Amino acid sequence: MDEVALRLTVFGLLFTFANLAATIKKQDIDIYSFHINSTVSSRYAITIITSRVTNVLNQSQEVHFEVKIPKDAFISQFRMTIEGKTYDGVVKEKEEAQQQYSQAVSRGQSAGLVSAVGRTLEDFKTSVTVAAFSKVTFELTYEELLKRRLGKYELLINAQPMQPVADFKIDIHIHENPGISFLEVKGGLNTKDLTNAVTTIRSDKDAWVKFYPTRDQQTKCDDCSKNGLNGNLIIVYDAVRQKQSGDLMVSNEYFVHYFAPTDIQRIPKNVVFIIDESGSMLGKKIEQTRLAMLRILSDLDENDHFGLITFSGHFQTWKPELLKATEGNVEEAKTFVRRIKSGGNTDINAAVLKAVDMINTYSQEGSASILILLTDGDPTTGETNPEKIQENVKKAIGEKFPLYSLGFGFDVSFEFLKKLSLENNGVAHRIYEDSDADLQLQGFYEEVAIPLLTDVHLNYQGVANLTQSTFQQYYNGSEIVVAGQITNNSLESFTTEVIALSKSTKVVYQSSGPTVDLSSGRPEHVKRLWAFLTVKQLLEKMVFLEGLEKDNAKKHIIDLSLKYKFVTPLTSMVVTKPQDEEMQVAHKPEEGEKPKRHSYGARRQMFMPSHPVNRILASSSVNQHGAWVSAFYTRRENQETSASWGLNKRKRPKMLRLLTMGDSSAILQLPSMTQKPLTTSPPLWRIRILKSSGNAKPLCYDVPVAEKVRLQQNVLSEFSMNGQRESFGGEGFSRISIHYKTNHHLLLSTNEINYTDGQETVKFSWEQDLTHHERENVSLILRRNEFDVTMGNIRVAILLHKKDGDIFLWPAIWQQPKYVVLMGILGEADISYDEIPGSQTPTLKIKDKEVKTSWVMVKDYRLASAPVVGCWLVPFQALTQRELSDFTVTQL
Ligand SMILES: *[C@@H]1O[C@H](CO)[C@@H](O)[C@H](O)[C@H]1NC(C)=O
Ligand SMILES: *[C@@H]1O[C@H](CO)[C@@H](O)[C@H](O)[C@H]1NC(C)=O
Ligand SMILES: *[C@@H]1O[C@H](CO)[C@@H](O)[C@H](O)[C@H]1NC(C)=O
Ligand SMILES: *[C@@H]1O[C@H](CO)[C@@H](O)[C@H](O)[C@H]1NC(C)=O
Ligand SMILES: *[C@@H]1O[C@H](CO)[C@@H](O)[C@H](O)[C@H]1NC(C)=O
Ligand SMILES: *[C@@H]1O[C@H](CO)[C@@H](O)[C@H](O)[C@H]1NC(C)=O
Ligand SMILES: *[C@@H]1O[C@H](CO)[C@@H](O)[C@H](O)[C@H]1NC(C)=O
Repeated sequence: MDEVALRLTVFGLLFTFANLAATIKKQDIDIYSFHINSTVSSRYAITIITSRVTNVLNQSQEVHFEVKIPKDAFISQFRMTIEGKTYDGVVKEKEEAQQQYSQAVSRGQSAGLVSAVGRTLEDFKTSVTVAAFSKVTFELTYEELLKRRLGKYELLINAQPMQPVADFKIDIHIHENPGISFLEVKGGLNTKDLTNAVTTIRSDKDAWVKFYPTRDQQTKCDDCSKNGLNGNLIIVYDAVRQKQSGDLMVSNEYFVHYFAPTDIQRIPKNVVFIIDESGSMLGKKIEQTRLAMLRILSDLDENDHFGLITFSGHFQTWKPELLKATEGNVEEAKTFVRRIKSGGNTDINAAVLKAVDMINTYSQEGSASILILLTDGDPTTGETNPEKIQENVKKAIGEKFPLYSLGFGFDVSFEFLKKLSLENNGVAHRIYEDSDADLQLQGFYEEVAIPLLTDVHLNYQGVANLTQSTFQQYYNGSEIVVAGQITNNSLESFTTEVIALSKSTKVVYQSSGPTVDLSSGRPEHVKRLWAFLTVKQLLEKMVFLEGLEKDNAKKHIIDLSLKYKFVTPLTSMVVTKPQDEEMQVAHKPEEGEKPKRHSYGARRQMFMPSHPVNRILASSSVNQHGAWVSAFYTRRENQETSASWGLNKRKRPKMLRLLTMGDSSAILQLPSMTQKPLTTSPPLWRIRILKSSGNAKPLCYDVPVAEKVRLQQNVLSEFSMNGQRESFGGEGFSRISIHYKTNHHLLLSTNEINYTDGQETVKFSWEQDLTHHERENVSLILRRNEFDVTMGNIRVAILLHKKDGDIFLWPAIWQQPKYVVLMGILGEADISYDEIPGSQTPTLKIKDKEVKTSWVMVKDYRLASAPVVGCWLVPFQALTQRELSDFTVTQL
């Protein structure tokens, strides 16, 4: 029985004193001051967030600090001041920090981290225990170089202090020496009542934006609530360009050169779009791709030449050659695009090589060639070895033109695309699966739509430690930035020279003489900018460097990051807290990294919220990999908090106990042990699926479920069903969605059901009586606690279960075509097994593999009465060759 998964029961509700919580209206912490101060000088932004908090309780408690910062930024300082003492974060090499963190964890202390949220932000989170009636000040500094895109820079500031703050201020100062050409304030914080709180003051070279909302105003913006501000302030601006040769800033022996000429004609392009139409693009993705491609085709310049390749297991070209973007050709291509359908495998290698071949054979003189690859998945057929593909593509392109990759969704191996593009002078972009994915695609295309120069070389005299100074292409609306160290003291002799190819000729831009010396105001400014840019570029290069070169780049990044205190993917910040309370480490997540939860080391006393809570739900499970313990609690203001711990196999506890202590805390107790932190995957909620089989006895298996998961997908029938687990990690799902064809969408929650067929929207409530809705091939029937759905040849039912105050949804598939490839945690249509007689542990033969099993009793939630039935418990892997991550979805 030892290897066999067995799951302890979910511990029930502990206690409820919501009434008590409701009567205590007062906040137990008071954020009395929250300031954000951002200074931008020559596109380099340094932002400081300062939060001052009082513990107004008469007992000590944990005070949290959580802010969101732009992904592209590096944190460069964090400090806490408590009772007159300052605790500074120390930046260390990641491995070293990790070691300290491991030690901290093995001493029973937890760790904090930075995590990616959404498209543009990262979340920084920490907490500290503050004595009764005492104060704490948190201060976080981050830095970033604003990038010019489509003719503008954007400075994004997020504010979400979690409560209205008496003294709330955002101060932004922008200084651009050649001048600011336009400036606009956007974002959710500049809406409704709050627009009155924004003041903008401008002179030629400076702009000050002040945002000083009153406590009352802080509850009145678009996404604001009684919890105060929640949103972004976005400053959009551009700089004046006095000289075509660019602007030069010099300070303390470092220079930065901004080059963005406008006096040139566009260069016609040869562009080939390589579009993934494999099965996984089904539904919204392919629809949005079609939409974006139709618009992009309309935007092509008449002098551009273009080609289209769609691929799944095979590729298909629209035309064997590149054709001029005449009105007729564009119309014909649009017809091709409208017919793009999804289905089949993914052969990236063959499609990209074909595209390279088309460009090489048909490209026009005096034009700029570009390849754009759009895909959402890993190569699954043809050449599937990622390294081999990268090698083939690099060899074929031979540094002649850039390859841009657009990775659609989170299924795609972004690391693979990143390397594929970076080593071919392009970049990889992630396209987020969202309602605006078509606009994201189009937006990216616009950035490279107008090539102005190719083969751009920037030369300087008497300099060292230059950042990248040759660029394959320069596009309208972007900007080339080069920084370096000046080694010759005579500044007057400092010259810049840019040599490039324009539409038809070689062009040279030269400048010398008067440069702007910024050294008076911020002596370190240009130097920090140089360090930032150097580290960013080296991090990109690391992706494709190998051997000694890679080691050198790594060492260089670490040296610079330590010197300038940047928290990068190779360095981390260690935060030590008062009284050795707990050490925390901030790691920078890498782009494309899937959102992760962290595992914590085991503790004897595992869970003890230091403030009153409304309810605690805790659960534990033990299986062959170890044990997971999760505790979720709601505290006042309905802020949900969760904590989970993992224990590895060897130290797997025999028993977990949940004790209550007084009326405001709980302790989960493990047998005492010294524990190494888990390095394997983080704890995920497990859901037990019961599955009828071809045999008399059903099978069941446990699936660790991330927040949102694909329940079932049937590509041929254009049907998919996703589920979102309960936030308190109960036994079922809080929401389930069903998508059929491109236009039918059904969304069920535990309260209501919304259905749209693209034109008409129908709402149901679980409370209402028997209701029937029928149109075309879709039939929906609402019964008591059961919703029956028939879409084409598929019939499913969603059941509403109520159990011990827990309400959840459960899917049941009653009919679907057999012998088709299905994907989802509900598994394949028809699975049968053989029982192998005579073995000590019960063993089954599934798909020609022997699998140890055990007989367990589970509730069959596929039926309204949820009868208890017996089943053979098997590992999920025994039923599918796929990784669990294949079933994680980002959107319902
Ligand atoms: C913002 O920071 C800058 C630079 O540290 C400082 O000069 C300025 O006074 C600060 N502004 C406010 C309003 O705190
Ligand atoms: C804290 O205040 C509450 C109510 O005001 C009181 O009942 C309690 O005794 C106080 N606790 C301490 C430690 O002073
Ligand atoms: C570059 O973009 C600007 C504005 O975004 C536009 O005015 C200009 O015409 C463009 N240049 C070319 C060559 O298309
Ligand atoms: C800059 O370059 C010089 C000479 O090439 C080198 O000795 C020095 O270490 C470099 N400085 C940095 C910070 O990389
Ligand atoms: C520095 O600049 C001066 C003036 O142009 C030039 O004569 C001298 O050779 C330069 N020195 C170095 C080391 O490049
Ligand atoms: C149904 O639609 C309404 C708005 O039309 C929305 O407020 C509600 O959240 C939706 N319910 C579900 C379960 O999506
Ligand atoms: C309904 O289903 C049938 C058979 O599956 C199909 O031929 C027909 O086109 C469908 N009708 C609509 C309107 O989708």
